[in-house]
Amino acid sequence: MIKLLGIVGTNSDNSTNRKLLQFIQRHFSEKAEIELIEIKDLPIFVKDKSIELPSIIKEMSDKVENADGVIISTPEYDHSVPAALMNALSWLSFKTHPFVDKPVMVVGASYGTLGSSRAQMHARQILDSPELKARIMPSSEYLLNHSLQAFDESGNLISSEKIDLLEALFSDFLTFVNITGQLTEAHEANVRVADNYTWED
Ligand SMILES: Cc1cc2nc3c(=O)[nH]c(=O)nc-3n(C[C@H](O)[C@H](O)[C@H](O)COP(=O)(O)O)c2cc1C
Repeated sequence: MIKLLGIVGTNSDNSTNRKLLQFIQRHFSEKAEIELIEIKDLPIFVKDKSIELPSIIKEMSDKVENADGVIISTPEYDHSVPAALMNALSWLSFKTHPFVDKPVMVVGASYGTLGSSRAQMHARQILDSPELKARIMPSSEYLLNHSLQAFDESGNLISSEKIDLLEALFSDFLTFVNITGQLTEAHEANVRVADNYTWED
């Protein structure tokens, strides 16, 4: 079965983005094995080439590397992604580059009406940077607005429209993972570019 990784894009204990990923994990359990990971215990990123990557970062990097695809669920803080998510992505672009050519689906939940649209746009920009270089599923925003009211007591999405859209996008994502899995010719070169990329020349 296809193996996906879901990254909870926040360090908040009480998160509707975590709920969304937990729902995705349960709802699609017959279509994909989805492991959820947390970013709340990561150290703060520091740009110091002399340090060894902390083991918690290596573990996270291996999980991304070994997944067939990644789903990132991001809240929206001040029209962007939370610092905790940026922190995780910075670590995953420094001395390790597990996102290169990795199929990624960006989703998000926020309390407001726009459902994290601006944060998702930033997440896409970040994931497209030279040392991350993920393959982000295009034209596929999943915006869970008014997320505090979106779940029932069992943690299931209430709106059938929202569920229908999620099912359609998830199905497309499985196809996207399959298609990007065939784009292998440039992978080694892309990894080399990411490995050798420097901002200091
Ligand atoms: C500092 C801060 C800034 C926020 N900025 C936005 C924002 O720009 N847009 C928005 O829709 N919600 C904003 N919110 C509310 C968020 O929608 C909400 O806290 C969070 O994204 C929901 O995700 P969570 O349930 O996973 O924590 C902000 C919240 C905080 C604490």
